Amino acid sequence: MSSELSGADRRNRGRLRQTDAGQTVAVPGTMQAIMVNQLGAPDVLHIAQTQVPEPGPGEVLVRVLAAGVGPWDAGLRSGGWTGPLPYIPGGEFAGEVVGDTGDEAAFEDGEPVYGYPALTGCYAQYVTCPSEQLAPIPAGLTAIEAAAVPVDGLTAEQGLTDVLNIGSGDTILITAAAGGLGHLAVQVARELGANVLATGSAQHHDFLHKLGAAVVFDHNQPDWPDRVRAEVSGGADLVLACAAPTLAGAARAAADGALIATPVHADDYPEGERVSWQRYDGQPRGSRLIRMAPWFDDGSLQVHLSRRYSWQEAPAAHSEIENGHTRGKLVLVVDDDLAAQEGL
Ligand SMILES: NC(=O)c1ccc[n+]([C@@H]2O[C@H](COP(=O)([O-])OP(=O)(O)OC[C@H]3O[C@@H](n4cnc5c(N)ncnc54)[C@H](OP(=O)(O)O)[C@@H]3O)[C@@H](O)[C@H]2O)c1
Repeated sequence: MSSELSGADRRNRGRLRQTDAGQTVAVPGTMQAIMVNQLGAPDVLHIAQTQVPEPGPGEVLVRVLAAGVGPWDAGLRSGGWTGPLPYIPGGEFAGEVVGDTGDEAAFEDGEPVYGYPALTGCYAQYVTCPSEQLAPIPAGLTAIEAAAVPVDGLTAEQGLTDVLNIGSGDTILITAAAGGLGHLAVQVARELGANVLATGSAQHHDFLHKLGAAVVFDHNQPDWPDRVRAEVSGGADLVLACAAPTLAGAARAAADGALIATPVHADDYPEGERVSWQRYDGQPRGSRLIRMAPWFDDGSLQVHLSRRYSWQEAPAAHSEIENGHTRGKLVLVVDDDLAAQEGL
């Protein structure tokens, strides 16, 4: 028998990584990950063995503790994914840095970090992430909470600051405010000094008031845009529209010439001749996570987890997110020891 190892055998045996302190960390060659072999219903999600990804220049290898779940994960899995199969879902994670990250990144081995590397790859025991797309986990967040923040947190903050330029004393309407994106946006808008009007289903109204919304409207009532107009004479000047079914109502509730920001992809943005729509995508920037850290540390910004799932339960988590009425966020706990501690 030849003593030569094939390339695949060598990769499966794992590798060693150096830490900044000159120590050596062993990284396994293979890991478990949730894979999608064919697009379809939630039960296409299954755990399989695959290669541990290798970080390229400027990337950091992270051992994943938990991964957030969003409607984008379900949308890709059910038919939206156009890349090669199989693929690993998941766009946001919290975990621990493995080994040396290079001088530029300056993260330490074992440092708790969270981030948004891409729309896929996070439902796995290891993920690689460009160093500028992750940040240290703020002291005010557990790893499980942190996993649910990056995509919606970055998108909420960017919409409110870069797009809408919210400041003290502004009044803003946030639609679908109890979901992953909306519930973070309500709190950030409140911290920026805005007066927040919010929409949500009736079961979320107390929740929205506690987050800081001054007035809450039931977006299942067809006349909710008229009620907004009765509250704010002439309609809202600034709107963050957080779900596709609320786009038409957001336009109706908006004043002539209002600015409506939305990260929702749609074929039609209604009343475009009367109001100004700005569609945007949340940019994955660690620096913006760092900017939000003081709010997490002092408790003025909290991520609400309506349920934590062990990652073996990923199909159930996807079914729940597809219902479209999650309060706050859902998380998959990827690390088995952490899942056991949580009683999952
Ligand atoms: N482009 C980007 O970068 C980006 C980033 C983040 C999010 N997004 C998009 O933003 C949207 C929201 O994301 P998310 O994480 O907040 O999702 P989510 O947590 O699933 O929340 C969905 C929201 O939709 C509302 N909703 C469901 N059915 C409704 C209906 N019939 N009428 C009115 N509202 C309804 C729900 O409100 P109730 O339960 O109160 O009814 C809930 O607040 C998604 O389309 C997502 O893809 C885009």
